[in-house]
Amino acid sequence: MSQRAAWTPGSWRSRPILQQPQYRDPQAVAAALATVAGLPPLVAPGEVEALRRHLALAAQGKAFVLQGGDCAERFQDCAKDPIESKLKILLQMSLVLTFSARLPVIRVARMAGQYAKPRSADTEIVDGVELPSYRGDHVHRIEATAAAREPDPQRLVEAYFRSAATLNYARALLDGGFADLHKPHHWRLEFVRSSTHRAEYEALVERILDALDFVESTGVESSTFSTVELFSSHEGLLLAYEEAATRAVVSPDKAATHYMNLGAHMLWIGDRTRALDGAHVEYFRGIDNPIGIKVGPSMVPADLVRLLDVVEPDDRPGRIMLITRMGAGVAAAKLPPLVEAVRATGRTVVWCSDPMHGNGTKTQGGIKTRDLRNIHAEVVETFEVHERLGTILGGVHFELTGEDVTECVGGPQELGEADLARSYETFCDPRLNYAQSLEMAFLLAKRLESRRGKRS
Ligand code: PEP
Ligand code: CO
Repeated sequence: MSQRAAWTPGSWRSRPILQQPQYRDPQAVAAALATVAGLPPLVAPGEVEALRRHLALAAQGKAFVLQGGDCAERFQDCAKDPIESKLKILLQMSLVLTFSARLPVIRVARMAGQYAKPRSADTEIVDGVELPSYRGDHVHRIEATAAAREPDPQRLVEAYFRSAATLNYARALLDGGFADLHKPHHWRLEFVRSSTHRAEYEALVERILDALDFVESTGVESSTFSTVELFSSHEGLLLAYEEAATRAVVSPDKAATHYMNLGAHMLWIGDRTRALDGAHVEYFRGIDNPIGIKVGPSMVPADLVRLLDVVEPDDRPGRIMLITRMGAGVAAAKLPPLVEAVRATGRTVVWCSDPMHGNGTKTQGGIKTRDLRNIHAEVVETFEVHERLGTILGGVHFELTGEDVTECVGGPQELGEADLARSYETFCDPRLNYAQSLEMAFLLAKRLESRRGKRS
């Protein structure tokens, strides 16, 4: 296969494909996809290009990526409160990071389209009954009945409209200033049990609020928040849908036509669908958007290099984000050969750490959880690997929510396994709650501050 073989938005269709729903009615699917393809784009090409420019800075350590949101966004999350609270935690985390690291933070939400999930098995047993596995609201309903789990083509259209509504409200909040962040009582630090940590965090938040006050008093109040950029992202899993969201974009001089997925600013390839000759890699190589590639412990260095040659032969800075998700205790051994192999190619990539997906565990009672200590340990390990090898950790990727859920153990509220039942709401992977997310930001801020100290 030549790397420059002809590409079209549908050329993935001739490749082996994993993780797709089996619809009964192909005509209904085609009609739904035609509807999506005829709707206006959700994002503009200029925004996608801006994200690529920002990511090029992150690759050099001149900006830092904060990517976060639900594991599986639900259609019901397309509502005022969930959007507000997710936006608020992302903005608060990014303020903490910007303030401490003195780096612009690139906010990328796993939001406005993160509706489809890969699954390790085609079926699951719910209350003794075998059903098709839940693949996300994009595909079907979650209820544990065969009828609910039947893939419904109409949901392809509904996902697009809900993505639009979510993005619209997020943009409106940002344009409107979302000024709540200025008020100390919106920073809920009372969760932090350890009084030493609480005092330290309170002092940092006070300094941040002071700085915001100062900026406001200079009269540039409205510009500080209205220029806050937020980018949307999701796993590019359902390729028929992604194809429908792909648009031809003609360059201003009309000399070239590019293709962009204008259903989100960036998309990533999951760890399960990154096979070199597979449909997902074929689709992703042809879109101009920045793309993420999840890199798990089974990735072989030579394959990663080959994958980069296929998806980004031109090595455009800011196009590729490698999101490593190895697990605490594994990253220190697995990551260096991968980093060295990519470094040896001379390529520019943004290295990010997803400390969530390699750190899943189950309680004795069978509840999926993750321990904050492992999540933090993987981030620290990843920072250390990059520092040792002279490369740069350019960002982090979290599954989080702004709500006070109890899904991950540990953290500032010292949640234990017995607490999980209280407010366990995820339908997929366990997410950091508000306090845990904020604590991760404080811990990261410290790490970035020390990196800044070493560099200057
Ligand atoms: C995810 O990000 O929700 C996910 C499924 O991750 P991965 O592909 O890394 O397992
Ligand atoms: Co997940």
